[in-house]
Amino acid sequence: MNSGNTFRIGVLGSGRGSNFVAIADAIAAGAIPAQVALVLSDVEGAGILEHAQKRNLPARFVAPGKFRTKLDEDAERTFVEALQSAKVDLIVLAGFMRVLKGDFLRAFEGRIVNIHPSLLPSFPGLEAWKQALDHGVKVTGCTVHFVDAGVDSGAIIGQQTVPVLDDDTPETLHARIHAAEHELYPKCVATLARREIAVRGRRVVRKKS
Ligand code: GRF
Repeated sequence: MNSGNTFRIGVLGSGRGSNFVAIADAIAAGAIPAQVALVLSDVEGAGILEHAQKRNLPARFVAPGKFRTKLDEDAERTFVEALQSAKVDLIVLAGFMRVLKGDFLRAFEGRIVNIHPSLLPSFPGLEAWKQALDHGVKVTGCTVHFVDAGVDSGAIIGQQTVPVLDDDTPETLHARIHAAEHELYPKCVATLARREIAVRGRRVVRKKS
């Protein structure tokens, strides 16, 4: 862990990186007292790496190895060592499409967060916006949560609701949820960077000042 003063964030992403951009912009604007120490992607040329490079933030591709949905042993070790060398206090998953397993989780216990495009525990897993439409819910949203060994099952840090409209398609609903994510994720990362929250079992609560 970082022994200096600035809260250091490691970001993992596989895709376009719009949540990363929202967080990096919030840091640049002074809304999150932190710095991005490292951005890693399992996808060569991913948008998230380009966004980081444009901002002169350290970023690199790490080959994920032979599996489709998780990192293989060598890749996992490379990710862990890179994040440890970067002395990250928090790992922010921003569209990272692989499940993190035991050794990774143990190396950063309680220090990994994710954003999911539904109001968990409803609709974990893939295409949560589509699950919400198929189910006919009138309200959905997004959730920032700690990462544990389950799928989208860790303690909930914050949630933001989004209405489901009668004429929504998967695309329009997904876009509305995405916009909400860009508000929620920076806010939650800021509370973590300010060390304002505490975990009590499954409940994440504000520390009393
Ligand atoms: C977001 O919709 C998030 O909920 C999910 O992955 C997507 C990442 O999008 N975990 P982006 O790469 O941040 O644009």
